[in-house]
Amino acid sequence: MATIQEEIKELKEEKNAIILAHNYQPKEIQEIADFLGDSLELCIKASEIDDKDLVVFCGVDFMAETAHILNPDKKIVIPDLEAECPMAHMLPEEELLKAKEEHPDAGVILYVNSIAEAKQHADTLCTSANAVKVTESLPHDEILFGPDKNLGTHVQERVDKKIIPTPKDGHCYVHRLFHVEDVELKREEYPNAVIICHPECNKEVQDACDEVLSTGGMLRFIAESDAEEFVIGTEIDMITRINSEIPGKKLYPLLEGAICKTMKLHTLEKVRDALKNEAPEVTLPEEVAQKSLKAVNHMLEASK
Ligand code: 13P
Ligand code: SF4
Repeated sequence: MATIQEEIKELKEEKNAIILAHNYQPKEIQEIADFLGDSLELCIKASEIDDKDLVVFCGVDFMAETAHILNPDKKIVIPDLEAECPMAHMLPEEELLKAKEEHPDAGVILYVNSIAEAKQHADTLCTSANAVKVTESLPHDEILFGPDKNLGTHVQERVDKKIIPTPKDGHCYVHRLFHVEDVELKREEYPNAVIICHPECNKEVQDACDEVLSTGGMLRFIAESDAEEFVIGTEIDMITRINSEIPGKKLYPLLEGAICKTMKLHTLEKVRDALKNEAPEVTLPEEVAQKSLKAVNHMLEASK
């Protein structure tokens, strides 16, 4: 009898499909993915998949929606439709429109972790890998930035523009779990380790760490570093990804319990079924997808 991994491989060939997965996916999904990456790398990959008929997206809703925005004629399926990023839903369309009315001269940059209905009103998007570069690419002196307040603060400290967070307290519940005390404890425990965190962590945690990087940035930094030990301040399965890509480094989690629950909803069985049934499909109203494409393309262009 074929293993589930063999079934997935066969179905992928039969359907001319590709499996894209985020760095936070569990080990078994990382192992069957054709492409693994951070949000920016996944957007870039999604803009280049002309030769495939079906895309299975193992990540959260906003990532799969972005793949759909870039490929409106392709079928994009997500193994579990419930895989939502709560932060992306913290900035509803109406709230953004209200903020735009209050700040008519401000440019609008939305984190790619936002719903498509809000994205359609943005000048551009960003990820944690390109937020500073994208902010500098806009001519505006004032920037409405949402939904992640912590990424906004990270950008504010690196650009000569006024960042206006919208909403006031948009955040990721996983990265909010990290505290300065966790950093201090790990420094004592592993004095030779480089401590890295994600810009979704709060400012105090970012300031206490040695490096603040996107998940893709973490991977590149560790690959190029002579250091042997690293403390990783982001979702727990980032360590799985680093371990498989760069063996031989000692990696310690800043917090064992940093788990993005919705990222873990995808299973091998659901991937197989998504391939077999070509469902559940990720779609958006055509007008929303078309309007959001402008902001997605602006980001891709600005991050070159
Ligand atoms: P990256 O773009 O760094 O992979 O981050 C995405 C994300 O959702 C972090 O929580
Ligand atoms: Fe969203 Fe946080 Fe999960 Fe990233 S880790 S997908 S920001 S809930």
